[in-house]
Order: sequence, then C-alpha cells, then structure tokens
Amino acid sequence: MTQNRRTAVVTGGIGGIGTVICQRLAKDGHQVVATYHPSEEDKLGEWSKAQEALDLEIGLIGGDVSSAEDGARMMSEVEQRFGPVDILVNCAGITRDGTMKRMVAEQWDAVIQTNLNSVFYITKPVWEGMLERGYGRVINISSLNGQRGQFGQANYSAAKAGMHGFTMALAQEGAAKGITVNTVSPGYVKTAMTDAIREDIREAIVGGIPMRRMALPEEIASAVAFLAGDDQAYITGANIPINGGLFMH
Ligand code: CAA
Repeated sequence: MTQNRRTAVVTGGIGGIGTVICQRLAKDGHQVVATYHPSEEDKLGEWSKAQEALDLEIGLIGGDVSSAEDGARMMSEVEQRFGPVDILVNCAGITRDGTMKRMVAEQWDAVIQTNLNSVFYITKPVWEGMLERGYGRVINISSLNGQRGQFGQANYSAAKAGMHGFTMALAQEGAAKGITVNTVSPGYVKTAMTDAIREDIREAIVGGIPMRRMALPEEIASAVAFLAGDDQAYITGANIPINGGLFMH
C-alpha cells in the first residue's frame, strides 16, 4: 500500500521520547507538529536548530495539555495552521514519584491531569474530524508501569493504566470508521525522566531488565511509526509493550 503524507501531532513533542517520534514521523514523510508546554519555551531555539541540522521541518505549538480549555485552543490552532489531524500521538507525561505515605494530593492531581485527563482533552477536539473523514491513527504512549504497577508510582501507574482503558473504549468507537486507537507501553527509556531516578535505584532497575539496558527513544518511535502507517488498518485496541523483557503477559 502507498503511504500517504499525513498530518501528525505529537504532544510532549520536544521531550525525550516525543522528539524522536516527531523525527521518525517526519522522516517517514508526514507533516509533523510538536506541542510543548509554555514552560519549555526556553528550549525551543536549541530544539529547532537540532531539527534543522537533520533537515527536518517540524511545526511547533505551545499549550497546556492538562487544561481542557488550552488543549482545545491548541488543537484548533494546529488545524488552522496545518490542516486536519490524521495521526495523534499522546505522548506528554510527567512523574511525581513518592510512596503513598508521602504522596500529597498535588502530586496525584498533577500526574492524573497531565498524563490521563490530557488524553481526553487533546483527542476530543480532533476525534469528530477523524470520524467525518473516515481516517485516523491515535497512539497513546502509556508505560510498563501502567501494566504492572511500580513502587512509588501510585499516581503514574493509575494514569498510565487508565490510558489503555481509554484506548480500548475509543478503539471500539473508531473501529467501523477507519480509525485505529492503540497504546504503546515503553519500559525504561533513556531520557531525562529516567535520568532523574536516584542512581542506585536506576542501576537496580537496569539490572533487573532481561536485556540489561534501557530502551532507546528510537525503539519506541519505530513502533509508533508502524502503528501510524496507512497499512496498519487492522490493529486496534492493542497495547504494545517495549520493555526489554521486563514484563511479559
Ligand atoms: N519494592 C519494595 N520495596 C521497595 C522498593 C520496591 N521496588 N523500592 C524501595 N523499597 C523500600 C526500600 O527498601 C525502603 O525500605 P525500608 O524503609 O524498610 O528501608 C523503603 O521502600 C523506602 O525506599 P526509598 O529509600 O527508595 O524511599 P524514598 O522515599 O527515598 O524514595 C521513591 C521513594 C522516590 C519512590 C524511590 O523509591 C524511587 O525513585 N523509586 C523508583 C520509582 C520509579 O521506578 N520511577 C520510574 C520513573 S521513570 C518512568 O516513570 C518512565 C516509565 O514509564 C517507566
């Protein structure tokens, strides 16, 4: 099947995994737009230079995915500037780790808002267009820790598990309309997020991974690119684990 040039949006698009997903989709010939949080504005200059050095043109739009209003505003701006969205990658995410004993409501709320509620806020504005056009690829970046739980991550594990519930429900709503909705669940990936784990804990985690290493962001991006393809029309509601063998089920 010939691959059409599609318009793709990647939330958290200037982050560790998001950047590489943007690059991969752009290399595959898609028009790509990265969304970033307003607090990341100082990184934009350097980020754009890095993409230009690779000869990649990636659009940028700022906004807060954890706000229903700003999410809707951002997606409407995307469609005005770049056209209808065919591929949506919900990749924005944060951690606020802490044991239950120490976790405060702000840590819980921040992670549920940014990692889970955002998926509704961002998908909702483009969903109807996908239904009308009879085409769409929604890919939600969840986590290994949403599949098996993680000590110190009650908030993050709940949000990431919730993302896949959303995937399965929406996959059913899109199935007869040419829209696939899938989850990709990375394990530990070499990014700033995992660099922030205390070194001794990080070393113990890597020691427990059957492949004895973290994933590269490119290894996540290749699965996203696969699911985003025109010819992946029959995979929907799936959860693809990419975790080096750390969790199998
Ligand atoms: N299972 C069981 N017990 C554990 C444990 C585990 N996995 N980890 C720690 N404990 C125990 C410790 O042995 C210790 O026990 P004692 O009190 O009896 O000595 C107790 O729990 C407290 O442990 P810490 O010293 O680690 O507690 P802390 O308050 O300093 O730190 C924490 C808590 C911040 C949650 C820290 O444990 C941590 O950073 N853990 C890693 C969390 C993690 O994996 N985050 C992933 C981030 S990357 C990401 O999220 C991307 C992705 O999608 C994979």
